[in-house]
Amino acid sequence: MSAAVSIRGRDVVTLDTFRAEELLHVVERARAMKAAPPEPRLQGRALAMVFFDPSLRTRTSFHIAFSTLGGAVVDMAAGRDLWPLEFREGVPMDGPADEHVRDAAAVLSEHADVLAIRSLARRRDWAQERRDMVIVSFQKHAQVPIFNMESVLDHPCQAWGDAMTLVEALGDVRGRKITLTWAWHPKARSLAVPQGVATMATKLGMDLTVAHPEGFPLDPGVRANLEHGARESGGSLRFVHDMRDGLADAEIVYAAPWGSIHHNHDPEAEAALRQRHVDWRVDATAMARTQDARFMHAMPIRRNVEADDAVVDAPGSLILEQAANRLHIQRALFCEVLGR
Ligand code: CP
Repeated sequence: MSAAVSIRGRDVVTLDTFRAEELLHVVERARAMKAAPPEPRLQGRALAMVFFDPSLRTRTSFHIAFSTLGGAVVDMAAGRDLWPLEFREGVPMDGPADEHVRDAAAVLSEHADVLAIRSLARRRDWAQERRDMVIVSFQKHAQVPIFNMESVLDHPCQAWGDAMTLVEALGDVRGRKITLTWAWHPKARSLAVPQGVATMATKLGMDLTVAHPEGFPLDPGVRANLEHGARESGGSLRFVHDMRDGLADAEIVYAAPWGSIHHNHDPEAEAALRQRHVDWRVDATAMARTQDARFMHAMPIRRNVEADDAVVDAPGSLILEQAANRLHIQRALFCEVLGR
């Protein structure tokens, strides 16, 4: 752990704003904290969480991480606990919204030391969606550090926890082969997890293959960042449109479902395109093409749809370690950002 590396006071909104040494510094702190009982480092501090979408792992890991370090937590579901919010600037608020995000963020900043927001994609044109308006608006108007608990574009705390799981499983991850494969899902799922994982893998110098069907690209801006990240780290990046090609010789298989950005605004067209690829399921035959790869998934996972039970429950599966490490990485991130 390098004492010279510090992320004190930073927002954790996109993983791309952090350097590889910062990612690894927090991973090492999380590993040290995992090995010892939690100390009351956040006594007198408060976390306010706002969920615009459901969550199991993120909600519990954030809440338990902060409270077991001695801090106070308030957990609010937008649509139930908050006044309806307006996000547009300078408009007459004569519609359904009772409060502007600039006031909500300012007030929460007075009460809490950290804000955390989850808001996933809706069904807008991708050019509009990719602005990630909810998290960006809170970030703009808050006076305290903001944590992204999954937004349209990124899920940085998931990817950070996955970096910890990879380091535990592989040691030095540079040059190790990871395949991020699209998996079929009955719903158009968010791009945040795959994009966060791909950002982490390229920053850490891994050899990343992204396998997805035609029509299911990552966001073009994220893809440009991945190419830059791989060049800087000495890692590599390739895209293929055949799962079996993508899995050949992989040491890690990371499965994730995601929707088509080309049809984000048109659910019927998106579903019709996605339905053509129900065979993108990680089964034992697909895993047999790898170098006895470990299997990863952020969860929730649709068993025997995204991946077979035989893969999910195999001894090489890391999915429970990933979920467990969300708690440890979150404790480390809170302590690092709050300078504790
Ligand atoms: N992986 C993850 O973020 O899980 P939740 O959606 O349950 O928080």
